[in-house]
Amino acid sequence: MSNGLAALAVATVLATGAAGQQAPKGSDARASAASSALAHPDLWPKLQLRRQRDPKIEARIDALLSRMSIEDKVGQLIQVDIASITPKDLETYKLGSILNGGNSAPNNDEFAPAPEWLKLFDAYWDASVKRSDGRPVVPVIWGTDAVHGANNIVGATLFPHNIGLGAARDPELIRKIGAATAAETAATGIDWSFAPTVAVVQDDRWGRTYESYSEDPAIVEAYAGKMVEGIQGTVGGDFMRPGHVISSIKHFLGDGGTGGRDQGDTRVSEEVLRDVHAAGYRSGLVAGALTVMPSFSSWNGTKMTGNASLLTGVLKQRMGFDGFAIGDWNAHGQVPGCTNEDCAAAINAGLDMFMYSGAKWKELYANTLREARDGTIPAARLDDAVRRILRVKLLAGTFEAGRPSSRPYSGRFELLGAPDHRAIARQAVRESLVLLKNNGSVLPLKPGANILVAGRGADDIGQQSGGWSITWQGTGVTNANFPNGQSIWSGIDAAVRAGGGKATLTADGRYATRPDAAIVVFGETPYAEFTGDRPTLEYSPEDKSDLALLKRLKAAGIPVVAVFLSGRPLWVNAEINAADAFVAAFLPGTEGGGIADVLIARPDGKPRYDFHGTLSYSWPKRLDQYVLNRRDPGYDPLFPIGYGLTYAKGAQLPVLSETRPAGGVVDQNALFVRGRVVAGARLATAGPVRQTRVDRNAQEDSLRFAFAGGGDARVMIEESRGIDLTRESNGQLSLLLDYRVTQAPTAEVTLGMEGGKPASVPITGALRGELGAWRQLAVPLHCFADAGVAMGQVTRPWIVATSGRLGLDISSVRVASAPPGPVSCGTR
Ligand code: BGC
Ligand code: BGC
Repeated sequence: MSNGLAALAVATVLATGAAGQQAPKGSDARASAASSALAHPDLWPKLQLRRQRDPKIEARIDALLSRMSIEDKVGQLIQVDIASITPKDLETYKLGSILNGGNSAPNNDEFAPAPEWLKLFDAYWDASVKRSDGRPVVPVIWGTDAVHGANNIVGATLFPHNIGLGAARDPELIRKIGAATAAETAATGIDWSFAPTVAVVQDDRWGRTYESYSEDPAIVEAYAGKMVEGIQGTVGGDFMRPGHVISSIKHFLGDGGTGGRDQGDTRVSEEVLRDVHAAGYRSGLVAGALTVMPSFSSWNGTKMTGNASLLTGVLKQRMGFDGFAIGDWNAHGQVPGCTNEDCAAAINAGLDMFMYSGAKWKELYANTLREARDGTIPAARLDDAVRRILRVKLLAGTFEAGRPSSRPYSGRFELLGAPDHRAIARQAVRESLVLLKNNGSVLPLKPGANILVAGRGADDIGQQSGGWSITWQGTGVTNANFPNGQSIWSGIDAAVRAGGGKATLTADGRYATRPDAAIVVFGETPYAEFTGDRPTLEYSPEDKSDLALLKRLKAAGIPVVAVFLSGRPLWVNAEINAADAFVAAFLPGTEGGGIADVLIARPDGKPRYDFHGTLSYSWPKRLDQYVLNRRDPGYDPLFPIGYGLTYAKGAQLPVLSETRPAGGVVDQNALFVRGRVVAGARLATAGPVRQTRVDRNAQEDSLRFAFAGGGDARVMIEESRGIDLTRESNGQLSLLLDYRVTQAPTAEVTLGMEGGKPASVPITGALRGELGAWRQLAVPLHCFADAGVAMGQVTRPWIVATSGRLGLDISSVRVASAPPGPVSCGTR
């Protein structure tokens, strides 16, 4: 039985140390839990799962397993992104699954019409079931990120991102959203969604904060089970009936605790991991979630994808999860000793299916097959993983469902953006809005009024939808890409016109006739995953034009209503001060009309809907309150979790402090900032170069280097332990320097990195020109990766070298998104 086999796997991993962890000795075991990554399953709850084992299904699994070859079994363990595999490949390679990553789509066209998705799935499916050797046919399944609606499909209803749903505090609504999302997903034939995300986010600098319902485990727990039920149907009822798809709770475990750093390390005790971060699994697994996605992140230094004690010991054995664990995007490649193409350690730790992206999936297949043959992956573990995958496929009806296009919901494209789904989404938008300020009861606005609608977010469905909207990052889209969507402006316009008034849209807030009131819609622009990590909670530190617009309107004596779009609470004290009313709208999705429903009154002046939402995250009073959760000592938010005004119960908000913390703040991705390198690193020099300190914004916050010439000289940051920049380098992140030149270079200057081997790019070109002015230079990390630096083990993340003379001041070195504009791998 699977439990026994899984125990064997744990034992193997612990004995070989393959997961990079050591078993604590004797009675120290629990005491050391805070710093070790070895979980103690007996500390965790046993769950009363609603779904019982079905003997008929288990018998079918046995029958299938007995006829499958080892090649067939290994194939089931692999999922490949459609960008890297053709339907034809599945004639030869009987893989378990395919997925579309956020940027992958039929014919490489992210705007491909819905029928193309179905057609492509038919092609993969046909190939997967084609065989003539008498071995059992196991149809391929397709996974997608339907994280706020079937968000890769043009025309789908996009619901508010989870942070807004958390504010709605409406578990029944969550079930309906899950069901509508599943139906729209099933219309394209796709049978599996990587949702819900049940992270319990503790540090709002994290770029995935909006994917999480709340910082409060109770809210996440109340929602996760409902969402799983909505997506998969209810055990004992419509479970996995047509129109439902497989759900995947993610990311197991502690993804919300990484200190604001995507894929970082959650350093907490086992009790916190259990009581805070596992909240969503308690209800989601009970509701019958068929798959779970281990996290990219680590717990106390050990990558989750390789943590046998948690994946096997806790999730499978203690909690009783008998579905399968699907890896995250090449996350197995980050397990010590692994590459993307070779990682028996992850399978042995309890991962059941690799999620692979890249051209070399055949290598992953070949290596895994070799390891299955030679016993590196024990036969029992292989069978256990395949058994779990077959169980999910059987429970999901994969074997009976037939060709994707023949399934009951397939091709019902009218479900995409169907009126009843849009109505659910619009209700969700209304319920998710949180009223933070309404001085002088400016809201609701009278529909007979002359209303100016301004701000960069007013008529932009892409911005109001955020990341994971048609494209992965949610960028590069226009309103035309959301044929069933409505912008916030359009909803206001319709409501005001219906009430006999007049609304006018100007993004920059200019007007010909002085309006009775202005609604300014602005906020964060879309991002996904690590590109959304921020150094502080300050809204738009580099561009204050939204604030200027608010101030300009207010100075003209016009009542100003701010509608703020964001994936997290942000420090907006100045913006709140500049507005009479302030609405946190989060990322509402395609039903922009839900905002007018609450903001624009009935013709008789009474609200059509009152505000309903209350914060599911604490709102910061200062820009450095990243970790701001109710149970923290000294909890001192601007608005606590649960805050939200209504028309029935208002309040006057006093003027807020706009003071910044003295001494600035720490950037979690900084290598050198405010005169210091981060802990664990040191500054070093070699050759004829002298280092002193100078002031930029504060005393001695910058370094001054005088390269004397006449020999090779280097200045560098050295890490005591190699740092892992893999993820950052396959995204769009850069090594960013703030610098000024005080003496022009007399020879070539290079910027380098070292990990395994050093590599550098010329930057002489960037150092020419005006002396003494502060400038910024961005070199994409992939430049160093392409040149052979082992990005998983970077020991010197920053090296500046020259043999000539050069005067260079540096105020900051960090890993971040490059500012807009062209970037290149160096300039001579
Ligand atoms: C994300 C997952 C997602 C997967 C597939 C990963 O980068 O972390 O949440 O399901 O990609 O797109
Ligand atoms: C995302 C994918 C995306 C890819 C691009 C992953 O992290 O989850 O969906 O297409 O990165 O690099």
